[in-house]
Amino acid sequence: MSLLSVESPLFSNKRDEINKFTASVAKEHQLLHSRELPMTGWVDYPVTIPAEVVSRIKEEAANVRQIANTMVVIGIGGSFLGAKACCDLLRYEPREDGVKVVFAGWNLSDEYHAELLRQISDDDVVLCVVSKSGSTVETSMAFNLFKDHLMRKYGESYRDRIYAITDEKEGLLRLEAEENGYKLFGIDENIGGRYSILTVVGLFPIAVQGYDIEKLISGARRAYNDLNTEILADNLCYQYAVLRHILFEEGRYVEAFSVMAPHLYVFSEWLKQLFAESEGKNKRGVLPFSVRYSTDLHSVGQFLEEGHPICFESILELPYGHSRLPASYENKTYKELSKIVCDAVYKVRQENNTPIFRFSFKEPLVESCGYALYFFEKACAMCCLLQGIDPFDQPGVEIYKAEMLRLLKEE
Ligand code: PA5
Repeated sequence: MSLLSVESPLFSNKRDEINKFTASVAKEHQLLHSRELPMTGWVDYPVTIPAEVVSRIKEEAANVRQIANTMVVIGIGGSFLGAKACCDLLRYEPREDGVKVVFAGWNLSDEYHAELLRQISDDDVVLCVVSKSGSTVETSMAFNLFKDHLMRKYGESYRDRIYAITDEKEGLLRLEAEENGYKLFGIDENIGGRYSILTVVGLFPIAVQGYDIEKLISGARRAYNDLNTEILADNLCYQYAVLRHILFEEGRYVEAFSVMAPHLYVFSEWLKQLFAESEGKNKRGVLPFSVRYSTDLHSVGQFLEEGHPICFESILELPYGHSRLPASYENKTYKELSKIVCDAVYKVRQENNTPIFRFSFKEPLVESCGYALYFFEKACAMCCLLQGIDPFDQPGVEIYKAEMLRLLKEE
């Protein structure tokens, strides 16, 4: 795989155990690609995304650039994390003159939103509100707040500055958007929040920030082609999925997604959401958590090396490329030192029998990012299906929402 490499001694050390899953992986692969399983619209989407959707996203992104220098993306969970992960990961890559993209509605902090409002008060702003259901409380609250800001600043023309991304057929947000003439994008009913990054949900904010979304899609398309085989021996994504399952059965209940650079951190948060919300059901599931290196080598690193052996680690590194800084230690640049640290962690974990995977993004990074997004979505779905878990629902999340709404009515 040229756009994302995956290494682990487990691929050879556990070959016999992996091979036992050959038939079940083939069966689940066929199911995933059959279009019979609900919420699997994302599986073929990198190759079926309509050209007119891509053109419209690019056109609207260009419109945003004409009228604004800041776009506030409002959403929570799968409706913002993928876009934020990509905007952060790509932040040092070349891009067209873009618009600053900031995120609201993903928390309920009064102070956070007050500060954000202050920061954008002199900017020319557009809003992009993203909610598949159209009724998520955190999103609605922030949308009301920023809509008021637009009304005060732009009067009646505030409507021209709102993009709504929501279910293609129904929901309160769609209704409001239609009544008020906001610009609307539909989310395929067969694609859920945490599998929606490669749809308009992620692509629009990424395009507004000035990145070439066709390159991102082409990376995902490469992943689609490479991973569209039911033959387990030829499919590293499925082998990783099988190994997660095997490790869980061995008592490795926690997966540390460790990232080698701060701008990869939100990507690990996206992974955390993808795996936890998909797999944490029926009293099963590996608990994913995000670890930031190098700082966490001086904290969680101790646990991963010598603590209770419930963890395995998936370390994520970026291409090292040219150094931007003259800084050096023992004649090594930051990039060289970072690679040495990654090598060291990869080696000592093996020596200490902590299972480890090493995921390396490649150049060009935009394509590699698209590849990785698709790779992990597919691995996650396969891992769930192998355990008889529905990867696409979130009944536990609905429980808190119902109780919150009950309390709201009581007030
Ligand atoms: O993956 C999911 O389905 C969730 O994380 C949702 O994305 C999240 O709850 C937000 O939902 P909505 O887009 O309906 O506002």
